Amino acid sequence: MKVSPIAALLPVPTGALQIPDLAAIAPPTYQPPGEPTSTIYFSLIIPTYNESRNLEALIQQVSSLLDQVLPNDYELLVVDDDSPDRTWELAQELQHRYPQLQVMRRQTEQGLSTAVIRGWQVAQGQVLGVIDGDLQHPPETLLHLLTAIRQGADLAVASRHVEGGGVSNWGLIRRFLSRGAQLLGLLILPNVVGRVSDPMSGYFLVRRRAIAGQLLNPMGYKILIEVLGRGEIQQVAEVGYVFQERQEGKSKVTWRQYVEYILHLLKLRSRGRITRLRQRFQFPLGRFLRFGVVGLSGVLVDMVMLYLLSDPSTLAWGLTRSKLIAAEVAIINNFIWNDRWTFGDISRHQQSWHCRLKRLLKFHLICLAGLGLNVLLLNLFFNGFGINRYVANLLAIAIVTLWNFWVNLKLSWRVTQVK
Ligand code: GDD
Ligand code: MN
Repeated sequence: MKVSPIAALLPVPTGALQIPDLAAIAPPTYQPPGEPTSTIYFSLIIPTYNESRNLEALIQQVSSLLDQVLPNDYELLVVDDDSPDRTWELAQELQHRYPQLQVMRRQTEQGLSTAVIRGWQVAQGQVLGVIDGDLQHPPETLLHLLTAIRQGADLAVASRHVEGGGVSNWGLIRRFLSRGAQLLGLLILPNVVGRVSDPMSGYFLVRRRAIAGQLLNPMGYKILIEVLGRGEIQQVAEVGYVFQERQEGKSKVTWRQYVEYILHLLKLRSRGRITRLRQRFQFPLGRFLRFGVVGLSGVLVDMVMLYLLSDPSTLAWGLTRSKLIAAEVAIINNFIWNDRWTFGDISRHQQSWHCRLKRLLKFHLICLAGLGLNVLLLNLFFNGFGINRYVANLLAIAIVTLWNFWVNLKLSWRVTQVK
């Protein structure tokens, strides 16, 4: 039986993590001099570590989709980090059936983010993408991402937190960790992390020219943060997708990835990236004004409730009990108005009572965090700076209103749907 020779592996780039621009790329086949460099349109990186049981299905599904929309104009690059289950070898065997497939086996460097960048360094495409090798990122979303790029986006991100997005059946812990990491990102690097609703996404396409020549220096898993933080990204598009349950193998995410994520954010922030990005960030003033009006109505509700419950001429209940009930009534008042008016354009896509209840719970958590911040600031201004207590309280309320607005906005007033 004739055994076809195992196809050659791609060379592994070393040195700086810098993606060449198109002009620097020799065309894949000989071009008559003077002809424009004819590279291909799309290069999709598939980073793998012990994915031998998922890879063939993924390659088959992705190839059949891209053969329809980009016949002979795309390439798939498996970048494997010397998997113990020899994923790279399986990928090489698949090359005979999928000629657009190429394989890189890294034996000295490790890590998801650098795997993606090393793949992009040897890629030929004008558009560069990344998809997980374990079928948790639905391949059909690629078609929507490609459409978004064709419509002018520099970056098209598959997001779990926009219309049509969600996760299969993540436990509360993983969802809490994912959202917690996002919140942390908003605190450390608001103008980068705040540009997308799912900064943790590992599934996106980016125009080569937006990141070519930039010296990339990612850590851990979050390649998207690196692209957003160092690329020339003008227009961002997002496409909803449902993060699937893993069929085979297991996730390599550990606590280490979360630590690396925080260090990565701090590193990006320290490079003074914020100033360059600040100009580009538009503050949603209209929505903020609506949020402020709702907040004022909440202050009124709080005051009236406090009077009705605690004033000697009414029920004369204890101050703390009255304040807690008054604050709770004010929070519910604010939620109702924000859900219907301030963020009505977003909430109308999640009308079920189940989603509404989850949004109310999330709003409570944010308000309670805000209440804690309020008490801290009030004490700081009153006891620390000797400011009049009522002026101090108003100052604290103003700052906390900004905080509450910003967090509600960046958590996209949307609950992660579990399908
Ligand atoms: N080459 C290489 N090197 N590949 C890796 C490595 C590595 O060190 N670690 C993981 N991979 C590959 C896996 O084989 C898989 O194809 C993909 O990267 C994602 O790894 P998982 O371990 O399955 O991560 P996850 O499913 O928990 O999270 C993924 O999806 C999230 C949502 O998009 C990752 O992509 C996260 O970054 C992402 O936030
Ligand atoms: Mn996975």
